[in-house]
Amino acid sequence: MGAIGVGMHGCGSWKTHSTMAAEGNQMVGNPRWKRYVSRVRPRRIDASGPPRRKGSLCMPRPPLLSMATITTPAADPWFQDRFAERIGGANYGKGNEIYKFELIKRAKRKALADHPERRMLDFGIGENDEMAPESVRAVMRREVDRPENRGYADNGIAAYKEAVARFMQREFGVTLDPVTEVNHCIGSKTAYAMLPAAFINPGDVTLMTVPGYPVAGTATRWFGGVVHRLPLLPEHDFFPDLDGIPADVLARTKLLVLCYPNSPTGKTATRAFYEKVVDWAHRHRVIVVQDAAHIMLSYDDEPLSFLSIDGAKEVGVEVHSMSKGFHMIGWRLGWVCGHEKIVRAFADVKDNCDSGQFMAIQKAGAAALDDAGIPKRVREKYRRRLEKLVGVLRAVGFDCEMPGGTYFLYTRSPKGAGDRAFATAQDASQFLIHDLSISTVPWDDCGAYLRFSATYEAEDESAEDDLMAEAHARLSRARLKF
Ligand SMILES: Cc1ncc(COP(=O)(O)O)c(C=O)c1O
Repeated sequence: MGAIGVGMHGCGSWKTHSTMAAEGNQMVGNPRWKRYVSRVRPRRIDASGPPRRKGSLCMPRPPLLSMATITTPAADPWFQDRFAERIGGANYGKGNEIYKFELIKRAKRKALADHPERRMLDFGIGENDEMAPESVRAVMRREVDRPENRGYADNGIAAYKEAVARFMQREFGVTLDPVTEVNHCIGSKTAYAMLPAAFINPGDVTLMTVPGYPVAGTATRWFGGVVHRLPLLPEHDFFPDLDGIPADVLARTKLLVLCYPNSPTGKTATRAFYEKVVDWAHRHRVIVVQDAAHIMLSYDDEPLSFLSIDGAKEVGVEVHSMSKGFHMIGWRLGWVCGHEKIVRAFADVKDNCDSGQFMAIQKAGAAALDDAGIPKRVREKYRRRLEKLVGVLRAVGFDCEMPGGTYFLYTRSPKGAGDRAFATAQDASQFLIHDLSISTVPWDDCGAYLRFSATYEAEDESAEDDLMAEAHARLSRARLKF
């Protein structure tokens, strides 16, 4: 049947490289970004300060799948009633909902068709715009030819785990036993799909922050568990309100999934917040899974590992990724580290799901981890780009600040443009694509927000500046209202 899969990349960003490549650069002779940049230093917010808020649900449950399917009419295959309920049962593939990433894709296609002369300024991409560094690719080229790397890697090679342990010590002062407290994964996404299998029985609860990366929640439901959503709101400094969780929910809770630096809000954790989490997790016997995918992209302070907090290793694990901080997004490599028994349970589940990442990739990953200069350079690149972006957006009326971390800028969506009003961030995002050829990702989960990503393609700083100048010119013309 004619199904169009609607996928999710980089916390939901749709791939758009081909459209970027197809367009010419129309931005010549524009003023430079620096003109618009005011003071955009990151703000440090303490977790102990914000007001508490009762209640937790701020929007309806998402669909069962984090992917949607759009169909063209066709006869059902004989096995239509054989699909599992978790993906829609006999109705699988029959929905006609259009999810936000498909809407973005369609709008971009139309804008390009209507305005072929106008370059799409793509702030919707959630993937690094660079290849892995040459030094890492050189290790890969060498290792790919070595016969000893040819086989199943199972739960990982010692060289990679040892490099992880050195990295955790060097960057965060965290001491790990590479044999028992570290296990690799084929990208951290897979770890979120697997970890609930180690803990969730039917009826058990996983706490998930919203907006956020949904994979552990989807897996929880697939194992018969329940997701309780913890909204990340500005009035609570984008921290979850752990004290507001209803007692009956807490009694059934086994997992708390956190993500810091937070995608998409850009909020970084504080020591005070993590200390509170460790204490809370001990008291309520909840296992913490901290998603550190963006950890090396921390701007307002040195990168902070959850495991550097006293007692954290007793309550959970941190999941790391080579994708964002090392430009290794397609290499599919990460690791789970922390409490030895949780790591072992993860490894047992993983052993039943895959046979490990190609050893040559693990060896290249180990070389990347041992080079402290790589994540520093990646961080400085996205810091520079985000500072430029904040300057431009503030100049056209957005009330935004430099994010604490990630390569995303999450900011309140405009309420209108000229005479037009936007009911949702989705409306604003569609307007920006159709009328200005500026692509962003809307988030309407907890208020109307737009996510601008600093991972757009620009070959050097001068091209970045041209792109910023063009974004400023187009957004200024739109007369945005907030
Ligand atoms: C917040 C967050 N966590 C985890 C992941 C998964 O990353 P990977 O599977 O590339 O390690 C992503 C990917 O976009 C993400 O945005």
